Amino acid sequence: TNFILDVRKTVSSTNTLAKEMAANKAPEGTVLIASEQTNGRGRMGRSFYSPATGLYLSLILRPKLSIEDSLLITTSSAVAVAKAIEKITNEDVHIKWVNDLFMQGKKVCGILTEASLNIENGGLEYAIVGIGINVNTKDFPSDIKDIAGSIFLDKPKNQPITSILAAEVLNNLADSMDKLTSKDYLEEYKKRSFLIGKDIYVLKEKKVFPAKAIGIDNRARLLVEYPDSTKEALTSGEVSIRTD
Ligand code: BTN
Repeated sequence: TNFILDVRKTVSSTNTLAKEMAANKAPEGTVLIASEQTNGRGRMGRSFYSPATGLYLSLILRPKLSIEDSLLITTSSAVAVAKAIEKITNEDVHIKWVNDLFMQGKKVCGILTEASLNIENGGLEYAIVGIGINVNTKDFPSDIKDIAGSIFLDKPKNQPITSILAAEVLNNLADSMDKLTSKDYLEEYKKRSFLIGKDIYVLKEKKVFPAKAIGIDNRARLLVEYPDSTKEALTSGEVSIRTD
C-alpha cells in the first residue's frame, strides 16, 4: 500500500473530512492526520475529546470485502494500533471488544470505522478507519476523567513521538489489511482481549442484559452467555464490565 498523507493542524473531524474525500474519489491509502479536532466523533454518536495532545488520523480503504467481513477491518485495526503503541511505549495494551484500547486500565485510544455501501454489488464502496490516540493529555473532561488515560503521560509530547507513532500505526495497518482474511490476527486480538471470562452487561435496544463474555469467534464476534444459558454472538453494540 502507498499512503498519501494530508497533514493538518486543526480540523473538525478527520473521519468527516475523509468521508468527503472518499466520496470525491480519493484513492485507497489516503490518510488525513490532524493534531487537534474541534468535533471529534466517537462510536454510538458520542463525541471524542480531541485536544492538541493527541494523534487523530483517518485512513481511506477501498477493500473488496463483504459487509460481514467489514467487522474484521475494525478488529484488525485494533491489533495494528495496539502493536504500534506497545512498540513505542514498551507497555502492554489491552483491547476491549470491539476496538477500545486500554493501557493500565485506562482507555487511551478509540477507533471509529465508517463504511459506505455500493448499492450495485452490495459490497463496500469505501471504509474509513478513524483512530484517536491520547498521547499526553493530562486533564480530561469530568465525564471521562475516570476512564481516559494517555500513552505518554510522563514524557512531553513532541513531534518525533507523534510522527513515529503515526508511521508505526500506518505500517501496521497496511500489513494487517493485506492479511485480513487469513484471520491470523485474531490470535493477537484474543491475547489482548480483556472481556473474555468476565461478567458483563450487554446493551441492546436501550436495554441492559447481564451476561458473561465467553469468547471471540473467527468472525471477531463476541460470544456471550446469558443467565438462562442461551448464547449469542454479538457483531456490534456495546458491552460494559459488571462489577456488582
Ligand atoms: C470511540 O472511542 O468511540 C471511537 C473514537 C474514534 C476517534 C477518532 S479520532 C480520528 C477520527 N475522527 C473522528 O472524528 N473520530 C475518529
